[in-house]
Formats: sequence, C-alpha cells, structure tokens
Amino acid sequence: MKSFLISEMKAGSIYHLMISAVVPRPIAWVSTISPEGKGNLAPFSYFNAVSSDPATLVFSCAIKPDGNPKDTLINILKTKQFVVNVANVDLLAQVNQTSAEYPYGVNELEKVGLTPVASTLVKPSRVKEAPVQIECELYDTLKVGEGQPGSSTLVVGKILAIHVDPKILDPKDPKGMSIDEIALNPLTRLGGQKYGTLGKVIESQRPGKP
Ligand SMILES: Cc1cc2nc3c(=O)[nH]c(=O)nc-3n(C[C@H](O)[C@H](O)[C@H](O)COP(=O)(O)O)c2cc1C
Repeated sequence: MKSFLISEMKAGSIYHLMISAVVPRPIAWVSTISPEGKGNLAPFSYFNAVSSDPATLVFSCAIKPDGNPKDTLINILKTKQFVVNVANVDLLAQVNQTSAEYPYGVNELEKVGLTPVASTLVKPSRVKEAPVQIECELYDTLKVGEGQPGSSTLVVGKILAIHVDPKILDPKDPKGMSIDEIALNPLTRLGGQKYGTLGKVIESQRPGKP
C-alpha cells in the first residue's frame, strides 16, 4: 500500500485524494432563498442520509477560498430552510453549471434554464426537472475546522416532505413507497472533474433479514 500521511499534506492534495477515494458520492442539489426572496441553487456531493426518526440528511458546505461562507450556507443560516433536489444523469450540464460562482442574489436555477416550482412546506423552490425533491428545515449545523481553506460546516436537515416523480416509483414494491434506482438514473460525483452513473445493480439478501 502507498500510505498518505495527512499531517504531511496540504489541504488541496487532501481534497483531491479524498474525492477520488470516497466514491461514488450522491449529489445534493440544494435550493435556498435569501430573506429578500432571491433563490439560489448549488450542488454538494459531501452528502448523505443520517436518520429516519427524525428523518434527517446532511451535507457539507466548505468555506470559500476567500474565507467567506457560500451563498447556500448564508441563506440556510438566515432562513432555516432548504430543498435537496436529486438530479438524474440528464441534468449533468445544469448541475455542473450551477456550481459556478455567481454573485450573491443571482438565481442559478433561472440562470441555467431550470423551472422553479413552489415547495409545499418551505419557502425555497424545488427544481421541477429533478425527479426527487426533499423539503427540509434546518436541524443543526456543526462547524468543522476554524474557517481555514478546507474547513467546512455540516448542515443537518430535518426532512419534512419527499416529492417523487411517480414514473420512478418501484412497481415491485407493493406499497409503492420506494424508488426504482435504475429509473431514477442518479448522477453521482467521482474524483477530479468526473461524474458517475449507477452501473450494474446487484441484489444480496442481508443475513437475518427477510
Ligand atoms: C458535483 C459537485 C459537487 C460539489 N460538492 C461540494 C460539496 O460537497 N461541498 C462544497 O462546499 N462545495 C461543493 N461543490 C462546489 C459548490 O457547488 C460551489 O462552491 C458553488 O458555487 C456553491 O454555490 P453557492 O455559493 O451558491 O452556495 C460541488 C460542485 C460540484 C460541481
């Protein structure tokens, strides 16, 4: 094995190693709104589910190279609400484009030609084109690091509602309450500038579970 000692590495190299080691990553395409009502949309791949009761998810919002927080975090800290949209592979170009650094107040959602749709329980819009849209209110934040480049803030969201395009619901689930991942065709993030697609799905029964 080649071992990389973190204590001997710079934050930039650690970042590149980490994003190619922890793969594939799901992408939270987070829509927020400023107190003045300006929308914002950006992708975050340091993202995952946390718990089912309460239903929560988490993503990590890094500090900008200039030491300032990203617009997403500014809005969430002010309004305590956000929507996590799940993008499919068809939305790659738009996901990628919404990561551009637009000035605060510019709505990336409209900038890249997506359609905002009103949420049911929170103020930020959902992305109509995204096959899954998860409305959240802020549960908690955890600052990781002291605001230096590479440091981040974990944003834990309490899930209030999950909207699913009926076309991707799994017909094999008698309750109709799970998603067919192949139909969802999620976009994932790999290392460097690379994205991934789902690939082959393998089923394996878990020990002790029917
Ligand atoms: C696929 C993808 C995944 C990303 N994941 C993250 C992430 O996990 N954390 C982060 O801070 N930035 C991430 N970024 C960069 C942000 O999207 C980018 O900084 C964006 O400009 C933030 O927008 P905002 O200032 O409007 O919040 C990612 C970018 C891309 C393209």
